[in-house]
Amino acid sequence: MKATVMHGEPQDHVAPDRRRFLAGTLGAMAAVPLMTGMPGIAQSQSATPASAAGRGRLPQRRLGPLEVSPIGLGCMAMAPGFYNPAPERAAMVRLIRDAHAMGVTFFDTAEVYGPFISEEIVGEALTPIRNEVVLATKFGFNYNGSSVTGRNSQPAHIKARVEGMLTRLRTDRIDLLYLHRMDPNVPIADIAGAVGDLISDGKVRTFGVSEVNPETLRGAHAVTPVAAVQSEYSLLERLPEVAMLDTCAELGIGFVPWGPTMRGLLADGFNGYSRFAAQDRRASVPFLAPEALETNMKIVALARDWAQRKDATPVQIALAWLLAQRDFIVPIPGTTKWPHLRENMGALDVRFTAGELAEFRTALAALPVVGNRPASKAQENE
Ligand SMILES: NC(=O)c1ccc[n+]([C@@H]2O[C@H](COP(=O)([O-])OP(=O)(O)OC[C@H]3O[C@@H](n4cnc5c(N)ncnc54)[C@H](OP(=O)(O)O)[C@@H]3O)[C@@H](O)[C@H]2O)c1
Repeated sequence: MKATVMHGEPQDHVAPDRRRFLAGTLGAMAAVPLMTGMPGIAQSQSATPASAAGRGRLPQRRLGPLEVSPIGLGCMAMAPGFYNPAPERAAMVRLIRDAHAMGVTFFDTAEVYGPFISEEIVGEALTPIRNEVVLATKFGFNYNGSSVTGRNSQPAHIKARVEGMLTRLRTDRIDLLYLHRMDPNVPIADIAGAVGDLISDGKVRTFGVSEVNPETLRGAHAVTPVAAVQSEYSLLERLPEVAMLDTCAELGIGFVPWGPTMRGLLADGFNGYSRFAAQDRRASVPFLAPEALETNMKIVALARDWAQRKDATPVQIALAWLLAQRDFIVPIPGTTKWPHLRENMGALDVRFTAGELAEFRTALAALPVVGNRPASKAQENE
């Protein structure tokens, strides 16, 4: 009865016609120098002109002043201790460079991923293409060697940590430096001020915040303009819709959904009886708990239905749906596998009409969700 799927190779579950679809997507991306139209929305206004950066020449999206590919690459699980057994470093370097060759110009890491290991991999991978990409990382923790000992965003600490980040990332500037988690002991104005100083010094280009509430965002933005907010946002976890997306729209700030594939739940092979190995972080995620999965699989079923309808995959439906919500949304699916990278980028070929979006929303709203964050969380710091 119990199906363990976490280390499976989902590409083996992909039906032959779907494989052709994925291969066709990649081929099309290589052959077409400039895609037009906003990914995710049919008949939208014309896209921002493509940047010269990135050989795939995808239409770009804006995160505040930054211009990035419409889908980025999350590099967290390239370090051990997350969702997969530790992948080989050299392979992850190649994966990042191949993502860039497909048009990805936005790469996400953090000091705490590993810790330090994801930044090292990203730094090595991006060295030959550093000027063609937007590099994002995050601060916010204290360490004893390689053990995380708590939150710390004291201004002096932030400035000291950035020196190590620059070394690991093999660069002289961080394009987007996020506060990873709010430090309850430090006023947001002080944190924003410290990042403002780093921007003045040329070590950082723009400021981001992760998992904060709209009030904290406003406090940060008043001191140092915020380019992007990063929070979990997916078909299943829709808390940002309560107030954050509107706040970002009002302030001209980009939004970067993490966990956009529902942490892999949309992969073929999952069902209500799927379980995660104890060392997989997803074993402790409430919406993936055994008692939640049976209910939450209804969202997966909805994505699977729409995948059939639109000749796409469920993951592509989920990513295209996010892209269609606002033009300042840039999801960063995390993957360590080439087939998944190709599949995720294929979401750019999926379009929803306004009618389809409304129909999808109605169906989604009717589905119960277990284990997601309650709306009251929108007013608290994570
Ligand atoms: N700001 C924050 O607090 C925060 C928190 C968590 C993560 N993040 C960032 O956001 C990124 C994405 O978050 P996430 O990794 O949690 O979310 P995610 O992309 O929803 O989930 C990643 C999981 O989904 C699997 N996956 C990805 N694409 C797939 C596909 N096409 N088919 C099947 N499985 C697929 C991956 O496995 P494979 O490796 O096997 O593809 C991995 O296990 C991270 O890499 C990190 O950079 C930020």
